[in-house]
Amino acid sequence: MQFNTLQGDASKADTGCLVICINQDKTLNEAAQAVNQASGNIIDTVFDNGDFTGKLASSLLIPVVSGIQAQRLLLVGSGKDDLSPKDFIKLAGTIASQIKACGSEQATVEVESLQVIDRDDQWKAEQLAIAIENSLYKYDQTKSKDEAAEEQPASIEAISWLGNSDVTAAFAKGRAIAQGISIAKDLGNLPGNICTPSYLAEQAETLAEESDLIETTIIDEKELEAMGAGAFVSVAKGSNESGKIIIMQYKGAKDKDAAPHMILGKGITFDTGGISLKPGAGMDEMKYDMCGAASVLGTMAAIAELKPEINILGMITSAENMPAGHASKPGDVVTTLSGKTVEILNTDAEGRLVLCDALTYGIDNYKPASIVDIATLTGACMMALGNVNSGMFTQDENLATELNQAADYSHDKIWRLPLEDDYQELLDSNFADIANIGGRLAGSTTAACFLARFTEGQSWAHLDIAGTAWHSGGKNKGATGRPVSLLVNYLLNK
Ligand code: BES
Ligand code: MN
Ligand code: ZN
Repeated sequence: MQFNTLQGDASKADTGCLVICINQDKTLNEAAQAVNQASGNIIDTVFDNGDFTGKLASSLLIPVVSGIQAQRLLLVGSGKDDLSPKDFIKLAGTIASQIKACGSEQATVEVESLQVIDRDDQWKAEQLAIAIENSLYKYDQTKSKDEAAEEQPASIEAISWLGNSDVTAAFAKGRAIAQGISIAKDLGNLPGNICTPSYLAEQAETLAEESDLIETTIIDEKELEAMGAGAFVSVAKGSNESGKIIIMQYKGAKDKDAAPHMILGKGITFDTGGISLKPGAGMDEMKYDMCGAASVLGTMAAIAELKPEINILGMITSAENMPAGHASKPGDVVTTLSGKTVEILNTDAEGRLVLCDALTYGIDNYKPASIVDIATLTGACMMALGNVNSGMFTQDENLATELNQAADYSHDKIWRLPLEDDYQELLDSNFADIANIGGRLAGSTTAACFLARFTEGQSWAHLDIAGTAWHSGGKNKGATGRPVSLLVNYLLNK
C-alpha cells in the first residue's frame, strides 16, 4: 500500500474515489464546497432528498458525478464538528470499508478539516492508515485455495491525503503498526497443530533474516531443563512439542550496549489445562493462548520497519500445555530458574509458570531497563474488564503513566488493577516457597502477584489480555491484534 499527500482543489482531484466528510448540520468544509459547486450542488441534492444525513459513520457512494475529476464520490458523515478520538476511529473504519467495497484501488481522502479533540493531523493519518490496512486483513491460511479465492480479493493500492499537512511519517507509522497487527492476528488465528512453539521460533528467525537490526536466539526445552528452569519445563514436558524461549534482540540505539526495554509474551500454543483439564466447551479458543507472544512478534516487526533509536528485547515463552503420563500433577513442587520453589496446585495456571522463568532469564542475562509482559493470563481478568480494556498491573508509577499514555493515544485501552503486597499471602504454600494459584478471590491480581515475586527491584508491568486478544464465537470470531498498537506507541515514546 502506498500513501502520499496531495494539495489543491478537491473537485480537481484525479482519483478513483474522492472521500469527503460532511457533518450533520451540513456546514460544508472547503473540500465539500468545492465539490458541491463543481457538481451542480450534488451534496445539497442528496441531503435534500434524504439520501445522506451526515450522521457519524454513515456514508453514500455516488458512482458518477459530472463536474468533478474523481471517478466516484464517497460522502462520509462526521456527525458533529468536534469528534472524539473514538468517533474518528469509527469514521476511519467506515472510510476504509467503503473504499474497499467500491472496488477502487486508489482513493483521495480529505479528513484534514475534521477536528478531533486532543489529536492532530499526524494522529488522524496514522489511524487512517491502520483502518485501511486492517480493512484488507483476511485470514485464509488454512482454507483451501478455491475457498480463499471465492471471497472478494479486495485491494487498495494507494491512498492520498488531501490537505496541507505533511503526514508522510504518520502514514508510515500507521502502516507499520497495521502490519504488526495483521501478523499478530494471523498467528493468533492459526490452529494449535500449525502454530506450535517451533513455528513461533521460525517466525522470529524469519524476522531476524529480514532485518539487520534484529538477532534471534532460540533456547529449547533441553537447554532450559539443564539450566534449571523447572517451572517452564513443568509445563512444556507434558507435550511432545518442544517448548522454547525465543529471544529477539533489536539494537537501534547508538550505544549497542544500552540496557534494552524488554517485552515478554506468553506463548502457550494450546492450553488444555493439563491434568487440571479444562471443560470441553469452547476449548478450541485456547489456541489463542499465545496471543501475548503474537503481539510481541507483531510489535517487533513494526519496530524493524520503523527503526527507532533504542534497544528492545522481544521475548516469547512458548510451550503447549497438555495432559500426559509425563505431565505435571497438582501438588507437584518444582524449582524455578530463580531458585524459588513452586507448588503447582493447578496445572491450568501454567502461564505464570512459563513466564516466571523467562522473566528471570531476561533479567539475569540482559539487565533490561524496563519490562512489560503480555499474557492471556486469567479468565478472571476477562470477567472484570470484558473485551474493552486489557488489565494493567504494576507498582511502578512511571511505567503506569507511560503505558496509560500509549493506550490512550492508540485507543488500545488498558485499565489498571491492583497489585499490592497485601494480596501476596494468598499465594502462601505449606510445601513450597509459593503456590501457583491463590484461590477464588482476586484471580488476576494473584496471578500478577506471582509474577511480581520474580521481578523484584525491576521496572516491570504486566498486561493481562485475556479479554482483549480475540473475539469469541460468531462471525467476528478471531484474533484482534491487540495490544500491538499500544506496545509500538509505548516503545516509540521511550
Ligand atoms: N489461558 C488461561 C486464561 C484464560 C482463560 C484466558 C479463558 C482467556 C479465556 C490460563 O492459563 C488459565 O487457565 N487460567 C486459569 C487460572 C486459574 C486456574 C487460577 C483461569 O483463569 O481459570
Ligand atoms: Mn491455563
Ligand atoms: Zn493459559
